[in-house]
Amino acid sequence: MSPFTLTRTLPADATAAALRSDVAYGLNRSPKQLPPKWFYDAHGSELFEEITRLSEYYPTRAEREILTARAAEIARATGARTLVELGSGSSEKTRLLIDALGTPLTYVPVDVSESALRGAGEALLADHQELSVHALVADFQHGLALPQTPGPRLVAFLGGTIGNLLPDERARFLGSVRALLSRGDALLLGTDLVKDEATLVAAYDDAQGVTAAFNKNVLSVIDRELGADFDPADFEHVALWDREHEWIEMRLRARGNVTVKVPALDLTVDFSRGEEMRTEISAKFREEGVRAELAAAGLALQHWWTDSESRFALSLAFPA
Ligand code: AVJ
Repeated sequence: MSPFTLTRTLPADATAAALRSDVAYGLNRSPKQLPPKWFYDAHGSELFEEITRLSEYYPTRAEREILTARAAEIARATGARTLVELGSGSSEKTRLLIDALGTPLTYVPVDVSESALRGAGEALLADHQELSVHALVADFQHGLALPQTPGPRLVAFLGGTIGNLLPDERARFLGSVRALLSRGDALLLGTDLVKDEATLVAAYDDAQGVTAAFNKNVLSVIDRELGADFDPADFEHVALWDREHEWIEMRLRARGNVTVKVPALDLTVDFSRGEEMRTEISAKFREEGVRAELAAAGLALQHWWTDSESRFALSLAFPA
């Protein structure tokens, strides 16, 4: 068998249909909202990579610090023979885990982007003999089914991406991950942590404006995919800390009265001057909250590791 196989559990047109329904729903609501997953076309993914290198954006470096320090311990604690990575993107941090787990190993990257999966899979295979890659084109929020691969399995969801989900979406997501795990399998979860407001806001509103461009990129995606006539220059990037919910919220604020046509949806939408549309939440966590959310999904927190400045945490949890 080839060391690289790719399985598509999403119909090829599912992404287009989901974008249409998300945009139709979100632009007709008050307040308007768009889900963050539409940031990540090729340009948006490049902008995100650029964000991870900004001095203000600490989560990537903090998580890498923890993985570097703890990969061997994670390998010992799990003995994993299959590594499943949800939302794998460019599997750079994954190498730390793969190298610590050692081969033979099956790597199952899961992403909505087939091109990201092929690129990352090829790069890993180039320098890892005895690695089998079984890439999965799937949306981890909707009905994951994993291929039959050797156990124990370690499911990794890194980067703090779980923070993009609302609390009830997180509960559903963690429940569906729990359902994939058998005794002895594990979940490795990356979460950004609550900290002072200035540090948090700067991470989502950098001086160079890369995050602003990333935020506005969702408008260009809708223009290209749905024939809309958003002008990103009509909107201003907003990042604010919601201290009640303990999440960062990114919004786009209309600089004036703006009318946008979305031909593919037969839709015309009006923004009044100053109107704000939510484009992302990025929740920040505390140990007790993560423990409780895991427990509610039937997962027992076994290890809680933070970086040296307690900015970010990795949790290792097992079926309770
Ligand atoms: C990739 C979802 C972890 O929420 O910090 C970066 C995305 N948004 N800057 C995050 C993001 C704005 C990022 N995640």
